Amino acid sequence: MTPPVAQQTDAPRILARCRDLVRPALGRAVRQLHPWHAEITAFSLGWDGPDGRATPGAQGKGVRQALAVLGAEAVGAKAESAVLGAVAVELIHTFSLLHDDIMDGDETRRQRATAWKAYGTGPAVLAGDALFALAVQTLAGAPGGACVPAVRLLAGTLNDLVRGQADDLLFESRPWTGPDAVQPHEYRLMAEQKTGSLLGCAAGLGAVLGGAGRSESDALTAAGRHLGVAFQAVDDVLGIWGDPAVTGKPAHSDLRRRKKTYPVLAALAADGPASLRLGALLRTGEALDDHAVRRAAGLIEEAGGRAAALAEADRQLESARACMESVALAPEPLADLLSLLPYFVERTV
Ligand code: IPE
Ligand code: MG
Ligand code: MG
Repeated sequence: MTPPVAQQTDAPRILARCRDLVRPALGRAVRQLHPWHAEITAFSLGWDGPDGRATPGAQGKGVRQALAVLGAEAVGAKAESAVLGAVAVELIHTFSLLHDDIMDGDETRRQRATAWKAYGTGPAVLAGDALFALAVQTLAGAPGGACVPAVRLLAGTLNDLVRGQADDLLFESRPWTGPDAVQPHEYRLMAEQKTGSLLGCAAGLGAVLGGAGRSESDALTAAGRHLGVAFQAVDDVLGIWGDPAVTGKPAHSDLRRRKKTYPVLAALAADGPASLRLGALLRTGEALDDHAVRRAAGLIEEAGGRAAALAEADRQLESARACMESVALAPEPLADLLSLLPYFVERTV
């Protein structure tokens, strides 16, 4: 019998192995950019400069590159066959964060200023565009028969990602309660598109570049999409209750921007006095000051929104596991993939 996901805690070792494998090729790719974009990218990735060392605490977690590497290994290919795909997904991830921080008006990420705060909005938009182009160019260099399916998977992913981002923005102006309120299934689709699409692409690209058949790459893509929804639900929880000194992101910025995150939606959908008081507080339409934001966070917790978001994350992880176990994968890489699952819900960063 497979052990429950919460008992496996090998994630840091697995993430570090994959990061070390991908880092040289990612560095070579970044150095192909215009020097200005290379500098902005290095800053965003938490490096000292395009050739530089990683600045402690300013790096990303590297889950996407790890999914690509493990995806290839899981279909019996060498880890190296996934490196192009891992580089492409890290470039797309960096592009999406550069643009996302502008859209969300966020001023800090990974313990430092966001790129638009440090370099200006125009340069950050352009650096994002450059990364997008470089990611496509990188995958276009994939060998032989893998190239077309790899680029097709990336194109579909980008389509989903921008659709998810569009809904995330549109949800901001939807009402909190009543017939036009955002429904849980709408949130799930938005999260699957904005976050799950790239995690799915990462795992699927690993399989495609590793020469897998359609059923393995589809199963890994589907697993990654479930992981993405889990990841986003936890991201939403950290956005309200995470410690900014650990997450590297500002506290409560989602609440201030009236983001329809899972904990808030679940709290509003619950019965009870805390849910009603939360609805009344949010519906005032006034900007939430520090006191109101803290009160809202307390009411969300009291109404069960935090627990509901974490339960949703757990359900999504189980769906991810079921997708991975629906096809025949190499046992050791599959074990590594399963070892990463608890990280998606237990992370604090
Ligand atoms: C980011 O979503 C999704 C993409 C960049 C496509 P969020 O806006 O919820 O994530 P954070 O909290 O800024 O990282
Ligand atoms: Mg954001
Ligand atoms: Mg956003």
